[in-house]
Amino acid sequence: MTKINDQAGTRNDALSSSSFSAPRSASASAPGKLILCGEHAVVYNRPAIALPLSQIRAQVTVAAGPPGTGLHLVAPDLDRIWSAAESPADPLCELAHATLLHLGFGAVDVRLTMLSTIPIASGMGSGAAIGAALVRALAAFLGRALDPAEVSALVYASEQRYHGTPSGIDNTVIAYEQAIWFQRPNATIEPITIAAPFTVIIGDTGMRCETRLPVGEVRRRWQADQATYEALFDQVGAVVTRVRDALAVGDFAALGVLLDANQSLLEQLGVSSPELEHLIMAVRNAGALGAKLSGGGWGGVMLALVDESSRERVAEALRQAGATQVLETRVEATLNETG
Ligand code: MEV
Repeated sequence: MTKINDQAGTRNDALSSSSFSAPRSASASAPGKLILCGEHAVVYNRPAIALPLSQIRAQVTVAAGPPGTGLHLVAPDLDRIWSAAESPADPLCELAHATLLHLGFGAVDVRLTMLSTIPIASGMGSGAAIGAALVRALAAFLGRALDPAEVSALVYASEQRYHGTPSGIDNTVIAYEQAIWFQRPNATIEPITIAAPFTVIIGDTGMRCETRLPVGEVRRRWQADQATYEALFDQVGAVVTRVRDALAVGDFAALGVLLDANQSLLEQLGVSSPELEHLIMAVRNAGALGAKLSGGGWGGVMLALVDESSRERVAEALRQAGATQVLETRVEATLNETG
């Protein structure tokens, strides 16, 4: 067997209590995320802007298990418990093993308990957040700290195995937990300048849709008619660039118009849905500055840009229109050079 790591405190065979004094348990968490603009086109190397949703989080606790029991995953919310021995191809078991390998460990006897307040398959990054929390919690349990780039890379590799062609934006914004400008093919990330704070209201359609489904449909459409879809992606990229400019000067009227323009392009890409458009129409009628779906689409969530005068009305309009969950997130200004 290849020896992975020879450093003190690491080993590549089964971790036993006599060889490593791990704490009895360790926990870590990771936030949800919101794509402000640029989803789908980002898969095709156009830029996108994403925000962390720090108030909704996934949390993973790693606790030492009895020697020889191996790795178990527990999801109390789903009333589910499973073991790596029985389900080696399970995405989270594979991610746990990849993390152990990265840290220079082989097998461990642990129980990982996962809790999350991020709705699954809603466009708010639930899978990537659970993955990032799992990676961090395992590392903490083994006495290691991983930097955001390592966490992001491990989660990305896992998403690639199960979600086809992820752009990498979800794992990146979640691992770094800051507002980012993201662009493939090199997964370039830049912090964005936000001149003034603003508020976004998120409405959940309650419809669940795995991201890989609309992503696969866009891929099929693009393969059938590359000229049309490349032109649409270019238009999305131009909107995202203008969103960055609007954020940098705090022009929220312009930002609202740009979010609406992005929604219209997402409709043309075929990833919107009647449920999303019902909520989007409701918030526009209630005075939102702009609104669009966020994430993969075909369900999940939409976002509305609001100001103080429309905040309450927009949230109420979403409830009246049947949103299953209404969240509010305030995006803080970034400090500038002199700030
Ligand atoms: C999903 O949050 C965003 C998409 O652009 C897919 C991706 O970037 O991998 C729809």
